Amino acid sequence: MASYGDGDQTGGRVTARVRTATTHDAKSIAAIYNHYISTSNTTFDTDPKSVEDRVEWIAERGDRQPILVVEIDDVVVGWGSVSLYATRPAWGRTVEIGIYIDPAATGAGLGMQLGEALIEAAQRGGYHALIAQIVADNTASVHLMERLGFERVGYLREVGSKFGRLHDVVLFELLVQERFADGGRR
Ligand SMILES: CC(C)(COP(=O)(O)OP(=O)(O)OC[C@H]1O[C@@H](n2cnc3c(N)ncnc32)[C@H](O)[C@@H]1OP(=O)(O)O)[C@@H](O)C(=O)NCCC(=O)NCCS
Repeated sequence: MASYGDGDQTGGRVTARVRTATTHDAKSIAAIYNHYISTSNTTFDTDPKSVEDRVEWIAERGDRQPILVVEIDDVVVGWGSVSLYATRPAWGRTVEIGIYIDPAATGAGLGMQLGEALIEAAQRGGYHALIAQIVADNTASVHLMERLGFERVGYLREVGSKFGRLHDVVLFELLVQERFADGGRR
């Protein structure tokens, strides 16, 4: 199982650990995701995910497209993913990241810690470009992507339909080797 960063580390105000998810994390991952599915436009999924669905989803991931979890005192308080952005072969070096932190644990630096780990995982996987698709009014996530070094590269108008409204999406991109070219953050 891959570990990220220095293992246990201080992510802002709390001590948290990021590790690769196993199928045993499916229940926690589903609970966090289902909260955001049912209460927010942060994901364009609209139907809750069952634990069984998440078990399969985690099990089919290889090392190159991991699901990571962040935990405090062995309790999972967030998860993130590195996923292929599109299936046609020429997209093969481009991945998308997503991050979901338990609402009770936001604002403590965990999104940043998980984001850094996902970027590191994408680099390990040999990917070239990282994409994040963020709903335009999702201030927290827009800020997080900017802090992680992603660049705003596009804007899609009225592409999501949820809760009886249309939602715009901001496209963010980060080129992995530019990020690591000088051995650290730009
Ligand atoms: C977006 C999200 C992942 C941020 O996670 P988090 O753990 O709260 O983020 P952090 O504490 O690491 O904060 C990262 C940066 O975002 C800022 N931020 C966090 N919440 C914010 C908010 N509501 N408004 C503005 N900025 C915010 C922090 O201040 C910090 O920036 P700073 O270092 O300049 O102060 C979390 O709010 C979440 O899970 N949201 C729902 C799911 C989602 O939107 N996912 C993104 C789609 S993939």
